[in-house]
Amino acid sequence: MKVVLASQNKKKIVEMREILSQMGVEVLSQRDVGVNLEPEETGTTFEENARIKARAVMEATGLPAIADDSGLMVDALGGEPGVYSARYGGPGLDDTGRWQLLLRNMMGKTDRTCQFVSVICCAFPGAGEILVRGECPGILAQAPQGEGGFGYDPIFYLPQLGKTMAQLTPEEKNQISHRAKALAEFQIEWEKGHHGTDQ
Ligand code: IMP
Repeated sequence: MKVVLASQNKKKIVEMREILSQMGVEVLSQRDVGVNLEPEETGTTFEENARIKARAVMEATGLPAIADDSGLMVDALGGEPGVYSARYGGPGLDDTGRWQLLLRNMMGKTDRTCQFVSVICCAFPGAGEILVRGECPGILAQAPQGEGGFGYDPIFYLPQLGKTMAQLTPEEKNQISHRAKALAEFQIEWEKGHHGTDQ
């Protein structure tokens, strides 16, 4: 089955395409189908935002559409930046500016536990959907390390591997990431054929 990836984030698209194509899902980009949509993420949960993005692209194309809404939740900050991870600190900041701000906001805090969260929604024409969630626990590093990945990866330390997410190869990240876990759940639901009913 063909599925349109409802994302404009090039690095996220690469990760999702890699994992989904291994499942035998034929992945099209919004560009492939000539749809240039970036719906406003007005939800307050990852679930709401993933659904907003997937449904908008499904409605515009008439094809099944899959979206990831993801972010970093830091326990000492009450779950921030959470759904606002991409917008943390306002529009003037890039990825580096955002993790620098986060490290500043964490100064003096001893609990540095956090988790990456990915919620994947696949919306099907006719109102059915699959909605799944994956989480990857870690520790906020004191300083960045590594050049791989994107977003907060340079400061997301995985104690069991002794590396940050940005020090992993793409293949290694795709084995353990929140997005990989959500997509593994997605595969189970997809294979059950449970995508014909609304949730
Ligand atoms: P979204 O496009 O609204 O889902 O925003 C996701 C944001 O969360 C990204 O811009 C990153 O800041 C952060 N994020 C999500 N997944 C990852 C990841 O795998 N590594 C690092 N940062 C991530």
